[in-house]
Amino acid sequence: MGHGVMVTGATGTVGRHLVGRLLARGSRVRALCRSPEHAAALLPRGVEIARGDLTDSASLESALHGVDAAFVLLAEDGGEAFAHAAYHSTGLRQLVVVSADAPRGPGFDNPLFVKHVQGEARLRAAGLPLTVLRPGPFASLALQWAPALAAGDLVGVVHPDLAVPVIDPRDIAEVATAVLLGPEPAGVRILPLSGPQALDVHARVRVLGEVLGRELKVARIAPEQWVRLVAGRLPEAYARQLIEVERYLIERRLPVVASVREITGSAPRSFRTWAQDHAAAFSAPDRAQSFEEAS
Ligand SMILES: NC(=O)c1ccc[n+]([C@@H]2O[C@H](COP(=O)([O-])OP(=O)(O)OC[C@H]3O[C@@H](n4cnc5c(N)ncnc54)[C@H](OP(=O)(O)O)[C@@H]3O)[C@@H](O)[C@H]2O)c1
Repeated sequence: MGHGVMVTGATGTVGRHLVGRLLARGSRVRALCRSPEHAAALLPRGVEIARGDLTDSASLESALHGVDAAFVLLAEDGGEAFAHAAYHSTGLRQLVVVSADAPRGPGFDNPLFVKHVQGEARLRAAGLPLTVLRPGPFASLALQWAPALAAGDLVGVVHPDLAVPVIDPRDIAEVATAVLLGPEPAGVRILPLSGPQALDVHARVRVLGEVLGRELKVARIAPEQWVRLVAGRLPEAYARQLIEVERYLIERRLPVVASVREITGSAPRSFRTWAQDHAAAFSAPDRAQSFEEAS
């Protein structure tokens, strides 16, 4: 039986890597896209494109027709539309969802927590074999520093001492590929995912500076200043939610886990490797805005 995988977020951080890996393994890939025209310009040849939206279950039901697995991102609706569509699909044999380590219960009403907690519960209720990937923060979050580093050598962050084992999105894609094309799954499997080493912002910026051949510095800035700094790129409410997630992560102290190696057979990529492979992203002067300008 040939595999057919529906990939959501195929133009995004993890999905773009997943698509290439699935195609290379001979899988049939269908990308769910809000704008097929935009996606067609980005996706490799051979990917089927289905117009749809993660919050529109009718579009998902039709996009799921004829595939036996789906790679799911959670949208603002906390997986509601996807769970509904998956429950009504006839050919689906498994779901792999990208979630996150999130606190649950009263007091944790941050939408970034809620969407993951609700999303996991709703997809579970769809009754299909389900693999929940719970990566920590992505190495690619460092791209948030690119505008400041195009303008100067200083990165301003709210929590410079926050140490997290950032994960390379390519490793999440490798894990998803192994699960989607691996042995027939059963039940619900939760997989926390991490990179190889917890690094605070000082350490990550130091590595990035070594890779770029520059001496970079980190400054602690107030939450309000950071919200202003990212105003052109992130909606204000979302920026505040991210700061709250960071506060949670300071207390949570995400551990380094072995799951990438266990599932893929390879060690997770280091932050240095991520930085070396994305160095070009830190030399685009047109997006420059230093954090002093935003203060
Ligand atoms: N970033 C992190 O550090 C981190 C950490 C832990 C967990 N996560 C989880 O990982 C997920 C993906 O990471 P990311 O933040 O880097 O996102 P991303 O992959 O860049 O998300 C954007 C992708 O999702 C698609 N998309 C967004 N909303 C959609 C909708 N309503 N319908 C259809 N497609 C939609 C976009 O398609 P278009 O081309 O149509 O825009 C694009 O392909 C997050 O949602 C989060 O759950 C992230």
